[in-house]
Amino acid sequence: MTGNEILQDLFFIERGFLNGNHFVYRSDAPVLIDTGYISGFEETRDTINRLGVNLSDIALIISTHTHCDHIGGNNRIQRESGCDIALHRVGRYFIDTRDDWSTWWRYYNQEAEFFTCTRSLEDGEMVTLGPHEFEVIYTPGHAADGIVLYNRHERVLISSDTLWQTDMAVMTLRVEGSRALFDMQASLEKIEKLDVQMVYPGHGKPFADMPQAIARSKQRIQNFLKHPDAIGDDLLKKIIVYTLMMKKVLPADALFDYLMATHWYKETVDLYFNGRYEAKYDDVINSFLGRGIIKEEKGYLSTTVKP
Ligand SMILES: [Fe+2]
Repeated sequence: MTGNEILQDLFFIERGFLNGNHFVYRSDAPVLIDTGYISGFEETRDTINRLGVNLSDIALIISTHTHCDHIGGNNRIQRESGCDIALHRVGRYFIDTRDDWSTWWRYYNQEAEFFTCTRSLEDGEMVTLGPHEFEVIYTPGHAADGIVLYNRHERVLISSDTLWQTDMAVMTLRVEGSRALFDMQASLEKIEKLDVQMVYPGHGKPFADMPQAIARSKQRIQNFLKHPDAIGDDLLKKIIVYTLMMKKVLPADALFDYLMATHWYKETVDLYFNGRYEAKYDDVINSFLGRGIIKEEKGYLSTTVKP
């Protein structure tokens, strides 16, 4: 995997669904934006090294939010380099108070390590990566601490999990609150006004047609508001695939019990599907097996989605 140079010395690295995409600004004081998931750390290190940047030289990490697939390398890179780590003020509060619930780590049974946040970011603040200036735009909804970064001069938007090209990031109302969809809507309206030539999302490929992506996401929100069980279905599907990515393989006869022991599974099925735990499990697994999104081999389940 090589980086794609999107602005001078600023590289975009596309990962998958388990690891968020990340960015490397190559200079005497290198900057990273997001650091993947913890289990993908060796690949994170390799891709950064291939750009001629050593982790021990990193000066600053900017995390677009504190979800595990965006901060996975923070602790290790900070231990190696002593770098600063910047988060939106809300995310800084989560990290300062060792809140592994608001970050989703405990809720979704994810692996992550705390680190030291040394700088908080405010909506409207400018961050500079050498000659490149990015405006911090606070975009809660998917994550209470979510930000996007906008370079007005080059019309580039680093959209993290606030805007993907065709899909929308999972909405966790039991952690983010019942108004999360309204927050997400407002965040999309905020970035809709920007003049953007290319969007670099937190997952998936870069894309040029921001209006189309925003229209799709808004439509998804309207559908969720009208049919709340669609939020539940989307969440179950995404997090079950995510779980298989985190675990790599799981015995087919153990997955249901594993899910029932998490904080999120029972609560989600209670909220949206009246406690039909087994029926919803069968629905999701059978539809994924049918579509080839997960496969069963010798009694083990895994997913075919790119981690
Ligand atoms: Fe993400």
